[in-house]
Amino acid sequence: MDTVTSPLDLRKKVLSWRRRGLKVGFVPTMGNLHTGHLSLVKHAKSKADRVVVSVFVNPLQFDDKTDLLAYPRTLEDDKQKLSSVSCDMIFTPNVETIYPNGMRDQARVIVPVIGERLCGRHRSGHFEGVATIVSKLFNMVAPDSAVFGEKDYQQLLLIRKLTQDLNLPIEIIGGETYREQSGLAMSSRNQYLSSDERMRAAGIYQILQTVKLQLRQGGQSYTELCIEAKLVLKERGFSPEYVEICRETDLMPANHQDKALRILMAAKLGETRLIDNIACHLD
Ligand code: PAF
Repeated sequence: MDTVTSPLDLRKKVLSWRRRGLKVGFVPTMGNLHTGHLSLVKHAKSKADRVVVSVFVNPLQFDDKTDLLAYPRTLEDDKQKLSSVSCDMIFTPNVETIYPNGMRDQARVIVPVIGERLCGRHRSGHFEGVATIVSKLFNMVAPDSAVFGEKDYQQLLLIRKLTQDLNLPIEIIGGETYREQSGLAMSSRNQYLSSDERMRAAGIYQILQTVKLQLRQGGQSYTELCIEAKLVLKERGFSPEYVEICRETDLMPANHQDKALRILMAAKLGETRLIDNIACHLD
C-alpha cells in the first residue's frame, strides 16, 4: 500500500494502473476510520481492481471552526487499518495542496435543491464544501467508481446528482450503514459522546424504527409522525434538528402515494450532532 501526498504522484500511479486495463475504485474519507469506513473500502475493492482512499479533513465543509479544529486526526492509525483491508493507495494531501490560493476565492460546486434541504438547511455551506472537495478529488483520482456510506444518505444522493449533472463517468455506489450493537450508527463523532450519552444515542435508531413501524401500519399523517418523533427525541434528552419522511430517490417530502421512503433525522445530544436514516419500503 502506497501513501502519496501530491496529486501528480497520485495521477502517475493511477495512469499506470489504467494502462494495464485495471479498474480504479475510490473511497473519500476525512480519516479517523472505523469499521464502517473499512467496509466501504472492501465494497470498493469488490467493484474494482485497485482502490484509492483519500484522507483529508476538508475545512470548506465545516460551518463551525471549533468543530473543524476538534475533528480527530489519526493518520498513523488510519494507515494501519487501511493496510489490513485491500486498500492500494492512500492519498493524504494537505490543505495548501488542495486550496493553493486559499478558500475564499476557490471556485465552488453547488448542487441545488437536494443540497438545500435537511442537513443543508442546518449547516450553512456544508454541501457546497462537500460537492467542491469531492469534485476536486474526482478530478485528481479519476476513478471508475466511488463508494459513499448510506449513513450520510443525503450526501450520497447529492454526489450521485453531481456526477450526473456534470457528466462525470464515475459510478456512485452506496455502502450500508454499520451499527454498534446498540443500533447506534458508526461515526467518527461518536467518540465525542460520554459513556452515558453513547447509551442514550442509540435512541435515534430506535425512534427511526418506531416511525418505520407506524408508516407500515398506515393511517397517520406524515407530518404528525415527524412531530411525534421529535417530541420523543426531546423527551430522551436530544435537541432535534429535523425528522423527515422523504422519497428515497430524491429526498423530496414523501406523500401517501410514494412507496420507497427514507426516514431521516438529525439531533444534538449534548454538544454532539448525530444523524441517521433508514429505508422504509411500503407495498
Ligand atoms: O463523508 C465524508 O467523510 C466527507 O464529507 C467526504 C465525502 C470525505 C468529503 O470531505
